[in-house]
Amino acid sequence: MDDILFPVGERHARDLPRLVANSVRLVWRAGRRELVLTLSLQMLASLGLAAEVLVARQLLSAFLQVGSGAAAGRVIVPLVALTLATAVIAFAGTAGSELQRILSELVSRYSAGKVLDVAVAADLLAFETPAFHDRLARAQMNGSTRPLQMTSGLMKVVQGLMSIAGVGAALLFIQPLFVALLVVAYVPVYVMTTRSSRASYKRLISLVEQDRRRTYLQAVLTRKEEAKEIRTFDLGGFFRHRWDDLYEWRIGQLRQLMKLRMLNGLIGSTAMSVLTACAVGFLVWLVSTHRVSLAGAGAAAGAVLLLGGQLQGLASGAAQLFDSSLFIEDFNSFVRSMPLMVAHSRGGGARPPATFEVLRAESVGFTYPSRQSPSLVDATIEVRRGEVVALVGENGSGKTTLAKVLAGLYRPESGQVFWDGLDTASFDPHLWRERVAVLFQDYVRYFMTARENISTGDWRRMDDTGAVAQAGQRAGVDGFLRSLPEGYESLLGPEFLGGVDVSGGQWQRIALARAFFRDSPFVILDEPTAALDPRSEAALFTSIRSLFAGRSTLFISHRFSSVRSADRIYVLDAGRVVESGTHEELMALGGHYAELFALQAQAYMTGPHPVPPTGWEAGGSAEP
Ligand SMILES: Nc1ncnc2c1ncn2[C@@H]1O[C@H](COP(=O)(O)OP(=O)(O)OP(=O)(O)O)[C@@H](O)[C@H]1O
Ligand SMILES: [Mg+2]
Repeated sequence: MDDILFPVGERHARDLPRLVANSVRLVWRAGRRELVLTLSLQMLASLGLAAEVLVARQLLSAFLQVGSGAAAGRVIVPLVALTLATAVIAFAGTAGSELQRILSELVSRYSAGKVLDVAVAADLLAFETPAFHDRLARAQMNGSTRPLQMTSGLMKVVQGLMSIAGVGAALLFIQPLFVALLVVAYVPVYVMTTRSSRASYKRLISLVEQDRRRTYLQAVLTRKEEAKEIRTFDLGGFFRHRWDDLYEWRIGQLRQLMKLRMLNGLIGSTAMSVLTACAVGFLVWLVSTHRVSLAGAGAAAGAVLLLGGQLQGLASGAAQLFDSSLFIEDFNSFVRSMPLMVAHSRGGGARPPATFEVLRAESVGFTYPSRQSPSLVDATIEVRRGEVVALVGENGSGKTTLAKVLAGLYRPESGQVFWDGLDTASFDPHLWRERVAVLFQDYVRYFMTARENISTGDWRRMDDTGAVAQAGQRAGVDGFLRSLPEGYESLLGPEFLGGVDVSGGQWQRIALARAFFRDSPFVILDEPTAALDPRSEAALFTSIRSLFAGRSTLFISHRFSSVRSADRIYVLDAGRVVESGTHEELMALGGHYAELFALQAQAYMTGPHPVPPTGWEAGGSAEP
């Protein structure tokens, strides 16, 4: 997947036509009606401009004739025509800019939607790599600002080109040599513009990683979750300072970039002004050698000034377009990565059977992308239909990782997971995940209604209020939810107006209800009672069999009292399954389990007791 995570390589001026084509394609997909309308308006404006030049020549010649004694009425027709042309240009300009606003909004929606599609389709493992987050952040940031820049750049370029074509045609009619001169005038501006864009692109791409750190700090300083800890540890000023440093660095980078761009701009526009002056000098020469009439020269001088403005517009439009196109290219390559990521997360494979007799992980190995050492080594476990199986082990021993492999979220690097003898690698992972309900250790608190919080367990049945209430009952939270002002329709979490926050244990019960709500043959509960009081915990474990009747349950717990009644217990240590069996068998074995069990039991019965080394003493952790 690495190849899809790398940024777009260097781009050159010769890529501009392709980048423009990409941009046009994007705008076309986002809003073809608005694009066609805007372009039509611009064409109208360009025709108006060409007409203006030609009419100006007629008007000038009429003026000259009136000056040498002809009737003043001669100027009326060209004057009216000029007024009309000016009005048309003005209208096309205002209407065009209004349309552009909608168009860029449409482009924003389209591109933001694409980014969300990728984020939704991405493999869970992608979220474990910084490169993915960089690209996602870049696509998101650029998706919100670049479309506007691109649309307006594109329109300026189109308008510039059309106007130049219109005025150029009019000039061609007056004196063909002018046109060649104008083409030459544009070259330096174009070169300088593309140089600046490339420099910006490189530098801005390099800013993203630091920008993400800054945005993260900003979130930490403003979110509710961190607020209490920030205050107890008095971290506000400290983090605020760090945020400032990061911003300072960014601004320093931008200053350097600005200098470079200003220099390029200065060179480009100076060259163009000189060439425009040359054009006027050339015009004087044409008049003095009688190659062009005075009226023609007047109109041509006006046209040259007009074109100067159009060329400037074209240059700035091209700069905008080039700038944004590079980012759009980056964005496109990110969006193109979607099929690959979908292929990873949605193999298009076989449909898993509705249920199983035996689910078996065999010699499973797994290493996180950011890790050198494996988090699972040769792990073999089995869950039979209707069984309650427990997974125990110290912090970092691999319990959650194994649960994620069994839930189809990570593919094992070695070994297999069999579903009644069928290798799950052949399953469509999406459909496989549908067969599993997981209550994660760090479950999500959705700031939505209680009913929605529970029914996210199976959103297709979101409106099945009876089933939601039943899941609430099983999770022991029904009474509490009913006591809220709006019952199951109460908004949870204090972030939005009217929301109520609830206790940690109540949140956990709601998350547990989600697992009950999902009608799947396999349920994984990762520390489902960490936030529950002893009475609730005991109640849950004594009734777990009847609560999940007919479904296979794998639960992870550090509380050995709750593990006792499991049909089978697997003990993980440093990513390996070191023991397995019933509580009695494992106690008789006198190994790792027996030791941990005795430790906990003694602590309850006789108070603190000397413990064997765990890694705390060295100030480290007990992970492998
Ligand atoms: N997303 C991750 N990226 C990198 N390493 C990870 C990631 N998640 C877990 N690990 C590492 O993998 C190993 C197993 O972690 P895991 O979360 O499976 O442990 P656990 O048994 O569930 O621990 P705990 O009891 O603390 O929940 C640990 O060494 C951990 O540091
Ligand atoms: Mg865990």
